Amino acid sequence: LIGVYGNEMKMPVYVVGGFVRDLLLNIPNYDIDIVVEGNGIEFAKYAAKQLNAIVVPYEKFYTATLVFKDGFKIDVATARTEYYEKPGDLPQVDVSTIKKDLYRRDFTINAMAIKLNPNEFGVLYDFFNCQKDLEEGIIRILHNLSFIEDPTRMIRAVRFETRYNFKIEEHTLEILKRNLEANYLERVSGARIRQEIEKILEEKQPLVAVRRLAELGILKHIFPKTYYTPTMDEKLERIFRFLPLIKQRYQNISDFYAISTVLLEFYDKETLEFMRNRYGYPKKFIESLKFTENMMLPLKSMVESKLAFSDIYKVLGKGNPYIFIHLSAYLDDDGQQYLIRYIDAILSTKLEKVTGKYVMEKFNLKSGPLINEILEKLYAMKLDNPSLDEVSTVEKIFE
Ligand code: CTP
Repeated sequence: LIGVYGNEMKMPVYVVGGFVRDLLLNIPNYDIDIVVEGNGIEFAKYAAKQLNAIVVPYEKFYTATLVFKDGFKIDVATARTEYYEKPGDLPQVDVSTIKKDLYRRDFTINAMAIKLNPNEFGVLYDFFNCQKDLEEGIIRILHNLSFIEDPTRMIRAVRFETRYNFKIEEHTLEILKRNLEANYLERVSGARIRQEIEKILEEKQPLVAVRRLAELGILKHIFPKTYYTPTMDEKLERIFRFLPLIKQRYQNISDFYAISTVLLEFYDKETLEFMRNRYGYPKKFIESLKFTENMMLPLKSMVESKLAFSDIYKVLGKGNPYIFIHLSAYLDDDGQQYLIRYIDAILSTKLEKVTGKYVMEKFNLKSGPLINEILEKLYAMKLDNPSLDEVSTVEKIFE
């Protein structure tokens, strides 16, 4: 239907990028990017009317998103026409326009388009031998300024390499390294870098990707003081094993922060402050790092020797997910299982009958640290024994 609307608006319409790549690879992809040779926003508005969808336009970029009732989205962009508005040369212009648009893209595998207008429906537009690269599993830039135009493409290259088990082509690799060494990645905002890293960590083999980032020297430009060693690799491996478990228990866990617990080990105060400014780590996260830096060894041995929860609680308290994740880097599967049991105890244990108010009234105390001490002690005991009777136990504690 999109193609039919294209005809009605007299605009050539294409589906481009990742959708085409995955279609040719026979992999499902529901991210549909449309490029229109003409005014993309006008087109989106027209299509939305016919399809009963909502248009969210971004005037500045000549793009729009169609949002359907069921939440499904389609992005519509305008192919760059500015260089090609030569009157009298129309058909040529049409082709060059989509060509120009595709040429600006990151890699050949993402630079193909499929026409949607009915007269040419399904025709593949492949100007740069992209299909061949796709078949041979090659990640190749389209022009030498690609990584300068958008340095996050260095990280994207590794993402596609790992996802499809492809290889970055030699010349591309050379340009990547040259631009990396010229510190182009440092010019990108921390937020965008973080976003790209989060994406790469969502892939099926995050550790393979991190290794490759380290191997290519990209990691060093993101974590300037990190030396990627086999020990670090082992720690990350354990973290990736632990992450699904912790994500079942806490919401909004950031994979970037999770691996940062290990990658930021041994950072001095200033560099850590620099990293906090760049990547927006919450203050609490940095405090967790300081805590684990001092307490890692005792915590590790406590969990490994399966000390009672009440004893671990004295050191670890209620903790927080990033402390647990960092600790998991030092634990084998057995240790991780015990840590998870501790976390489950923390998450499910609450004092129900005995509160601060109860203690004050019952024992005739004024508010102060003693109250808290009593409550904490009772709580720790309940961690070991969930069915303990709070009222009689607090009396014993008080004695
Ligand atoms: N693109 C680009 N340069 C970037 C980001 C994106 O040229 N830095 C282009 C690519 O042609 C890409 C398309 O925009 O195919 C859509 O980008 P995005 O949705 O981020 O990636 P996909 O290729 O769809 O990959 P994924 O399957 O991971 O969504």
